[in-house]
Amino acid sequence: MAIISVRGLSVVYGNGVKALDSVDLDIEEGDVVSLIGPSGCGKTTLANMILGVIPPEASVSGSIVVSGIDIIKDRKSLVEKIYRDVGVGYVSQVDTLLPWRTLMDNVILPLQIRGMTDPEHMDRAKYLLGLVGLQGFENAYPHQLSGGMRQRAQLVRALVTDPKILVMDEPFGALDALTRVALQEHLTRIIAETRKTVIFITHDLDEAITIGTKVAVMSKRPGRIKMIKRIDFPYPRDPFKLRSSREFEDIRSELWSSLASEVIAGEQG
Ligand SMILES: Nc1ncnc2c1ncn2[C@@H]1O[C@H](COP(=O)(O)OP(=O)(O)OP(=O)(O)O)[C@@H](O)[C@H]1O
Ligand SMILES: [Mg+2]
Repeated sequence: MAIISVRGLSVVYGNGVKALDSVDLDIEEGDVVSLIGPSGCGKTTLANMILGVIPPEASVSGSIVVSGIDIIKDRKSLVEKIYRDVGVGYVSQVDTLLPWRTLMDNVILPLQIRGMTDPEHMDRAKYLLGLVGLQGFENAYPHQLSGGMRQRAQLVRALVTDPKILVMDEPFGALDALTRVALQEHLTRIIAETRKTVIFITHDLDEAITIGTKVAVMSKRPGRIKMIKRIDFPYPRDPFKLRSSREFEDIRSELWSSLASEVIAGEQG
């Protein structure tokens, strides 16, 4: 059974903008779904709906069932339950590290909020920091870290409570191309180690293919899921090697032709 099941989801914001139009998407446990589509097509809207962040003035129809809980019907109380029982980690493009806390104190904040400061969880934080190459920087403050290091710290913070689901909204969007590729490699290593169900939003087709077990292409706004392509490369993945392979090339051209007709029709803001 799908851990996340979206059916006929349509969203019209309070200002009349129709962001999503009858979206269907099934995400199985362990799927890593890269969501790609033109700017303004409703990717963040879809992620927010799955996270239970639903503006009260929006008109929403259809259903989103996460681990058996219909989050549109049951709204707030059960969204809290999903966060508590299932666990959902979230990484945004915006830097949300607290400048007055060290790297370690930022990363363990979700543990402190939940009173999970036992040695086992603290060790997990250290283990994850090692996994993304941040060991030795535990006592540094955010301003002493590079942008790529801060993004890695935010990834660790999202994973530290061991959530089942990880939602990432353009987590590497603000980074230069080389740092991005390095972080993609880190992320595939983390996926291999931690076996999460992941929704990974990106504008970058190569990144979508490098990260996902599936790439879901969205149409321009109002967004629909236009195409889903399985990606079978084993984890962890080496982005440099992968991109020079013939198989990657074939997948890229298939997905690009699906995406191009949406992008060339223009950005819709
Ligand atoms: N709170 C809101 N109120 C009104 N309209 C909104 C709101 N949030 C988003 N929109 C509109 O809904 C549409 C979809 O926005 P969304 O942020 O989901 O797109 P996106 O695919 O994430 O775009 P991008 O790739 O640029 O981040 C856009 O036209 C946007 O202007
Ligand atoms: Mg967005």
